[in-house]
Amino acid sequence: MKPEPTNEIFLRAPAKINLGLEVLRRRPDGYHDINTVFAAVDVFDDILLRPRHDGRITCMVEGSPDLEEGEGNLCVRAALALRRAVGDETLGLDILLIKRIPMGAGLGGGSSDAAAVLRGAIELWGLAPDGDLPDRIAAGLGSDVPFFLYGGMVHATSRGELLTPVDLMLPYVVVLVNPGIHVPTPWAYHAVGCTGERAAGDLIAALRHSSIDPAALRSGITNDFEEGVFPHHPLLPELKERLYDAGALLALMSGSGSTMYGLFADHHAAAGAAGRFREHWTAVARFLPPGDALVFGGAGSGR
Ligand code: C5P
Repeated sequence: MKPEPTNEIFLRAPAKINLGLEVLRRRPDGYHDINTVFAAVDVFDDILLRPRHDGRITCMVEGSPDLEEGEGNLCVRAALALRRAVGDETLGLDILLIKRIPMGAGLGGGSSDAAAVLRGAIELWGLAPDGDLPDRIAAGLGSDVPFFLYGGMVHATSRGELLTPVDLMLPYVVVLVNPGIHVPTPWAYHAVGCTGERAAGDLIAALRHSSIDPAALRSGITNDFEEGVFPHHPLLPELKERLYDAGALLALMSGSGSTMYGLFADHHAAAGAAGRFREHWTAVARFLPPGDALVFGGAGSGR
């Protein structure tokens, strides 16, 4: 039986980790071409959306007192950009954002929230945007946002917005450790000190090969930000070492940091390892398949 349509939507916005991140070259537009694999993991922010009929877009944040609730908030900017693109200023929205993913942490929480609001608002406002409009709006909001429209595991190039799905379900369990250090992304790119060209590694081959030989992870999957960021934050290489000591098959920084993660063979190993990092924010997580931003309710579809 089809559930009754409701006039609100609840979305779960997942975090991501980067399974390798190579900074290939600096571009004339100031961005950098990168080579990375984004993988969504089951740590979520929650988002509740309700339509408004007075054209206002509001945002309330729980769980993060420092996060802006006005137009500086990426969720609000996502809704405003969508409304501008479809040219209907009467569309309004109340956004309730419950933050659980640490912010400025290399886990893509803000980007994921923005993508979830885009998807939710399209449904709630009953829009049928042309072809790649959501992708273009997402890319305008931030380099990581397009990935979160899809989720799952995706190979990303250009500035992170050119996406190819990776048909691979890795068996590892992820331990996330966030020590609360804020690493600004533009600074991290600067710290990489990219002057010339770097050849792109074959991250997908390394990930595939890891099922036969887990050592392929350590040799084939690296994060170029580590070299620039670690000297400024010695706690991070220490966490990496401790993740290896705890049995990680791969220990790496996610994005521009500061979250460090370890891939473990199974849940038992991961839970045991996570227990060793109690002084920090930690989570034991699994990889998510595509289409992972669960949507409940919705005036348009009645889902
Ligand atoms: O796209 P986003 O707003 O997330 O990027 C934040 C900043 O990170 C950019 O202004 C730029 O300095 C840097 N960046 C970059 N190359 C990328 C992505 C981001 O240099 N591929």
